[in-house]
Amino acid sequence: MLKRIAVLISGGGTNLQSVIDACENNIVNAEVVGVISNKKNAYGLKRAQNHNIDSVYIGKGNYPNVDNRGRQLISVLNEMNVDLIVLAGYLEILHKDFFKEFEGRVLNIHPSLIPKYAGKGFYGMNVHEAVIKNNEKYSGATVHFVDEEVDTGQIVMQEAIKINVNETAESLQKRVLKIEHKILIASIKKYIDGEL
Ligand code: GRF
Repeated sequence: MLKRIAVLISGGGTNLQSVIDACENNIVNAEVVGVISNKKNAYGLKRAQNHNIDSVYIGKGNYPNVDNRGRQLISVLNEMNVDLIVLAGYLEILHKDFFKEFEGRVLNIHPSLIPKYAGKGFYGMNVHEAVIKNNEKYSGATVHFVDEEVDTGQIVMQEAIKINVNETAESLQKRVLKIEHKILIASIKKYIDGEL
C-alpha cells in the first residue's frame, strides 16, 4: 500500500514538482494525494491538476475567518487520510490545533542553514538577500520537522553550498533551490521508509 502525502504550497511549486516526480518515478514509495494552497492562483495548483492530483484552495478568499480557515485545512487533510504533510513554500502561519492533529508527520523545506536566516520574516528571496548583504561564505537548505514555532522543529537534513565571488540573491536562490529539491526528496524517502 503506497504511503499518502499532501503538499502545502503558496507559490510556483518547484519543490512540489520534485515530490510528484519522485513518487511517479518510484524513488519514493508514496503518492501525492493532495495539494493545498493558500493562494488561489499558485502555479503549484496547476502542477497538481496536470498530474490528476486533488488540488484545493483554502485561503482568505474562501475562508476569511482565520479559525475557520485553520479548521478547514485540518478537515481536508484528515479526509485525504495522509501519512505525511510537506510544507513546500507554504507561507501561512498554521493553526495551533494543526500540531495536535499532525505533529510528527509534517516536514518543511527552508532555503537557509537553520538556525541562520530562519524564523519570522525569513522566507523566499528575503533569505538570500540577507545572506548576500551579510557577505556570508556559505548558504544552503534545511529540511526539518514542523512544530508550533516558525522554522524551529528537529532538523532532518541540511546541505551547504559555498557562495561564489560575484553571487547575487537571484543566482543564490537558483542554486539553493536545486539543493532544496535534492534534500527534500531524500528526507521524504527516509520518512516514508521509516528511517526518521
Ligand atoms: C522555496 O525557496 C522554499 O524553500 C521556500 O519557498 C520557496 C518555494 O519554492 N519555502 P517553490 O514554490 O517550491 O518553487
